[in-house]
Amino acid sequence: MATQDELKQRAAFRAVEFVESGMVVGLGTGSTTEHAVKRIAALLTAGELNNIVGIPTSIRTEKIALESNLPLVGFDTHQEIDLTIDGADEVDPELNLIKGGGGALLREKVVAQASRRNIIIVDETKLVAQLGTNWALPIEVIPFARCTEEKFLTGFGGTVRLRTNDDGTPYRTDQNNLILDTNFGKIVDPYNLAAKLNERAGIVEHGLFLGLATDVIVAGEGEIKHLTRTSPNRKG
Ligand code: A5P
Repeated sequence: MATQDELKQRAAFRAVEFVESGMVVGLGTGSTTEHAVKRIAALLTAGELNNIVGIPTSIRTEKIALESNLPLVGFDTHQEIDLTIDGADEVDPELNLIKGGGGALLREKVVAQASRRNIIIVDETKLVAQLGTNWALPIEVIPFARCTEEKFLTGFGGTVRLRTNDDGTPYRTDQNNLILDTNFGKIVDPYNLAAKLNERAGIVEHGLFLGLATDVIVAGEGEIKHLTRTSPNRKG
């Protein structure tokens, strides 16, 4: 039986088959995407791909890419991304996602919104019938607003937990913000919840990625499934 990490690698390698020479590639964050970043770098080194540049979604991914000799650029020179490969924490049947388990949700959403195609790579444990089944929603807030946003989230049924490091100190994002992992139970209407969260000034971003994934590659025992979005909505 394959380990979860082997399944992640299979999904990542399949996604990299869609990377073509000359592309600007968005590089997601997390253990699944790490396989994709290293695979792209290896194909570049081997000369099987050329003229690829990446835009990383986190300092963590930036480091992995640079260590692997994958050239990086920023939005100052490249505002359009051909293809982004990223992971997810949950995927529903409409290919809506919860992301942010790795804390990189803000840059991940910026990169996803700038991408023509977003391929999400997961192992089959990430598939759920309804978002919120196994994962609390990561919500990035500015430190100044923490308590008022906590009250707001609690006010409509959220159970809020401040994300902390192993030593108990508050976790800080790459933007030096905080994350409130908020459990709403199963999310009946993710678009309605996203709209409420989008209205709050202290909430910088949340991990609901709605209408952004164009493809989801799911690795399970035996087969790899490739799911594609049929409706082109991009409301995330
Ligand atoms: C990072 O902030 C997240 O959105 C990740 O993409 C997500 O947590 C998936 O991570 P793994 O690939 O490590 O499961």
